[in-house]
Amino acid sequence: MHASTELARVYDGVAAEYFGRAASDYQNDVPIVDRVWQASQVRLQQTRDLDVSAVRVLDVGCGSGVNLAMFEALGADATGIDVSPNMVRAATITSPNSMVILGDIRTQHLPDLDYHIVFAKAFVHLFPLKGFDPLMRRMKSLTRAGGILYIATTSHQVSSEGYFEKADYRGSPVRFRRYWNESDLRTKVSDCGFRVLDSWNNTDPRNGKLWTNLILTDESR
Ligand SMILES: C[S@@+](CC[C@H](N)C(=O)[O-])C[C@H]1O[C@@H](n2cnc3c(N)ncnc32)[C@H](O)[C@@H]1O
Repeated sequence: MHASTELARVYDGVAAEYFGRAASDYQNDVPIVDRVWQASQVRLQQTRDLDVSAVRVLDVGCGSGVNLAMFEALGADATGIDVSPNMVRAATITSPNSMVILGDIRTQHLPDLDYHIVFAKAFVHLFPLKGFDPLMRRMKSLTRAGGILYIATTSHQVSSEGYFEKADYRGSPVRFRRYWNESDLRTKVSDCGFRVLDSWNNTDPRNGKLWTNLILTDESR
């Protein structure tokens, strides 16, 4: 299995930097979280899944917890999971009303296996191609029937993977990274049994990176 201890070490080392730019991340992510939230509201109406006290969100690889706080502000019951202890500590401060779990999404037992929104921003590219299907299956199994899965990754001309420096962070730590071509990503997502409900691209004005955002639903449910 792709080593989560290695990723935990790398993200422990950059957690303070993530925490420090939480306000800027919040501003950047408002349109993203709003769009995911709207999509989930539409799905709740379409599937008549209205008998819920709160929309349950699972933020996979929640980092410093900015998106948890945003979902809580919208009235959701947000849970985060992250493999890095320092990120978990940061997320607990950023979003004090959220449950934040230290663990690997691929193996961690979770208390509530039925989320309306599984939110995985800047996450799937941490895994090699061969780990993509099991990761997507796991996230699918955590999504409530009629719920949505959001994934976002940077967009590239050609797909590739390997060990690269995380160059925009102090010390440029090296970690595994997959670079996805959007068309390849869409094909894999479809192969995994997901239908794209909504998609868009956005450029992060702070660093010029182009992102692909996909809101998915399980085709079989
Ligand atoms: C690139 S950061 C993204 C953080 C946040 N989602 C955001 O958009 O700012 C990826 C996060 O995933 C976490 N992570 C990596 N592998 C993980 C795993 N197997 N299970 C849970 N979290 C993991 C890392 O510790 C890190 O906090």
